[in-house]
Amino acid sequence: FKGKGNVKDGLSKMLTEVSQGYFQPDVGGENIPIAQGELSDLAGDEPLFKALYQWFLDSGGVYKLAFGPKAFIVVSDPVVVRHLLKENAFNYDKGVLAEILEPIMGKGLIPADLETWKPRRRAIVPAFHKAYLDAMVAMFGRCTHETIRSLDALTAGTSPAVTDMEEVFLNLGLDIIGLGVFNYEFNSMTKESPVIKAVYGVLKEAEHRSTFYIPYWNIPVTRYIVPRQRKFHADLEVINDCLDGLIARAKQTRQADDVDALQARDYSKVTDPSLLRFLVDLRDADLSDKQLRDDLMTMLIAGHETTAAVLTWTLFALMSNPEVERKMLQEIDSVLGDKTPDLEDIKQLPYVRAALAESLRMYPQPPILIRRSLADDVLPPGLNGDPAGYPIGKGADIFISVWNLHRSPYLWKDPDVFRPERFTEANSNPDFKGAWAGYRPGTEGSSMYPNEVASDFAFIPFGGGARKCVGDQFALTEAAVAIAMLLRRYTFKFEKGPEGVGMATGATIHTANGLKVTVAQRQRQRVASEDAPALAGVSA
Ligand code: HEM
Repeated sequence: FKGKGNVKDGLSKMLTEVSQGYFQPDVGGENIPIAQGELSDLAGDEPLFKALYQWFLDSGGVYKLAFGPKAFIVVSDPVVVRHLLKENAFNYDKGVLAEILEPIMGKGLIPADLETWKPRRRAIVPAFHKAYLDAMVAMFGRCTHETIRSLDALTAGTSPAVTDMEEVFLNLGLDIIGLGVFNYEFNSMTKESPVIKAVYGVLKEAEHRSTFYIPYWNIPVTRYIVPRQRKFHADLEVINDCLDGLIARAKQTRQADDVDALQARDYSKVTDPSLLRFLVDLRDADLSDKQLRDDLMTMLIAGHETTAAVLTWTLFALMSNPEVERKMLQEIDSVLGDKTPDLEDIKQLPYVRAALAESLRMYPQPPILIRRSLADDVLPPGLNGDPAGYPIGKGADIFISVWNLHRSPYLWKDPDVFRPERFTEANSNPDFKGAWAGYRPGTEGSSMYPNEVASDFAFIPFGGGARKCVGDQFALTEAAVAIAMLLRRYTFKFEKGPEGVGMATGATIHTANGLKVTVAQRQRQRVASEDAPALAGVSA
């Protein structure tokens, strides 16, 4: 892997430190092609996942980036991805990602080692059952009504109003996840609380850690002398105190009636439908408060920014593709009218759901999944046939590039075109290529959305296999409710064109400059947001 001129020394040094800090020694098979490129490609202005795309086109579905004695393997092939996520999933843990997230999420489900993960996954998955989702959909509607209230205030004047919709979606996502996970009312559209500030502070630090190359925060003294590390620990304390308080309160208010109702999944009798209530009421006797807190913190972070990013990039794509927006509106108007949607309504909005899937195809959140092998393994031959497969050693670091997979010219026709129809048409459609040609719309099982099963791992917006996202239906329903309610009420136009938005790498894909839009009320009958019921949760 070549360095470039003067940049070489500084960057080589930095990247060697990266690898020393995070990555394991190069234990990949000798046969894996090594990407030929410039170090400056990796450390330049472009987001990392975009640099990895060009090398995928040049070097194939499995390639290696090597820095001095260390390396990581980039995988962009559905057959190899299926092996890593499903067929041999328990040979891999979260490696670098777990190191970054552990200080924040402890042993929560995302970074957890396999031993911790197994019983916690078994406890948490049942919490996301259909009765819970039904209860949540009504709350998604109430929170979106709050967003509408604030956008109405903004658009009440005569001159066009400009707002940053990325920020609006982050606030909406936070309000929803607060209520859904622990019945906590952030109410972030209208107020600022120390807890909200602390959540954003911690998210920022998680992002800093995932994009900053040298893990200096592992040196204990930095906690006291580096201002951003001091702030991070102070923020963590604020959130942990809040979560500890909520856990204590949930334990004190545990009632036999609620437990019975939850056991029967009868949410009509449950006063607090949050995940916290479920996990406290039905908890294992030996579950520690620390583990419960780690799980809650994980879901707070995993469920907030991801969904906000999906909404941000969906709106971006719709403003860039007015014809798609027009079709969505047609469907929303004819199915919903002015009604606040419930779960049955969302089932009747196939085009809206396809547009969300298409948004997740083009803008996957996160764009990269991270793994480290726990024992030697042999990667299977990829779609384009590496006849021998590649042996890799214990400790190999792997980046699964969801971005590459979802924009692969071997799998998708016109991968850079936003076309929701590709998910609704029959599989004879020429849009589908390679493995994806096996996709059959409507074969998603209990899921209402295209997924990794129907696409045979060509489309993995929520991962797949054992460690697949637990909140996928929650998040997609939330996004469908929000986008339907906002699109029918407002028109959105780029303030400065799509180029002004930019793209940046974080834990999810961010805009570089915010999603600044001109927003105006749509010229049609109005939705009576004033009549919407107020939110009901624990106050911030
Ligand atoms: C895992 C994406 C929303 C909780 C994952 C993974 C992906 C993902 C790709 C797999 C990570 C890996 O294999 O390394 C998303 C997206 C979301 C979303 C795109 C929004 C559109 C949510 C929500 C929650 C949640 C709302 C909870 C309320 C989790 C948890 C895991 C996870 C706990 C870890 C599962 C495990 O390891 O067993 N998510 N997620 N996510 N997600 Fe989500």
